[in-house]
Amino acid sequence: MRIEYLGHACFLLEHAGVKLLIDPFMTGNQLASKTAEEVEADYIFVTHGHGDHLGDTYAIAKRTGATVYAVVEFAEGPMAKEGIKTAMGNIGGRQKTPFGSVKFFPAAHGSGVPGALACGYVLEIGGKKVYHAGDTGLIAEMGFLADEKIDVALLPIGDFFTMGPEDAVKAAEMIAPEYVIPMHYNTFPVIKQDPEEFKKAVEEKGICKVKVLNPGQTLEL
Ligand code: NI
Ligand code: MN
Repeated sequence: MRIEYLGHACFLLEHAGVKLLIDPFMTGNQLASKTAEEVEADYIFVTHGHGDHLGDTYAIAKRTGATVYAVVEFAEGPMAKEGIKTAMGNIGGRQKTPFGSVKFFPAAHGSGVPGALACGYVLEIGGKKVYHAGDTGLIAEMGFLADEKIDVALLPIGDFFTMGPEDAVKAAEMIAPEYVIPMHYNTFPVIKQDPEEFKKAVEEKGICKVKVLNPGQTLEL
């Protein structure tokens, strides 16, 4: 299983030719490693409706025919009007999928869509479990993820809109994954952070490994 960081909160998970794309914000992100016109996807996961997460979802879904996952009020509300393939679920629910499974996880954040909740995702693909936290503050529910045996946790460290580095260290401690990959930093001036300092803080406590990826870099598991 291969995880590619495309910048901001966007990741591409790939196993056996199946591509899962999360929060594809490319247009307007100077740090994005791929354009919306070139990225490929079979499934797209949207954590919430803010522009830096919904991003280029509709254009990519229309071009590739990818199925887009979102919470029910979002998938059957604004997304349904776009004429794209959607799939829905809601917080706490897990569903089997052709690639493995998806579980909708709580996130403490505005959704940008009236009536919808923001979420994170636990995705199972290629025998690995990846938690994408979405935009969220530190929440006690992350402690439940310890039982999930998460291989890779994708955690925001930017502060201002989400957890900052200190709370992300606490999140890593609660989740106890094999790896953390920091995200949602340096895209805008207000979320400027040094990911190497976060890595040092997590690894000095012996919590887990931290893999800092620049946009375009990958982690193979
Ligand atoms: Ni947001
Ligand atoms: Mn965001």
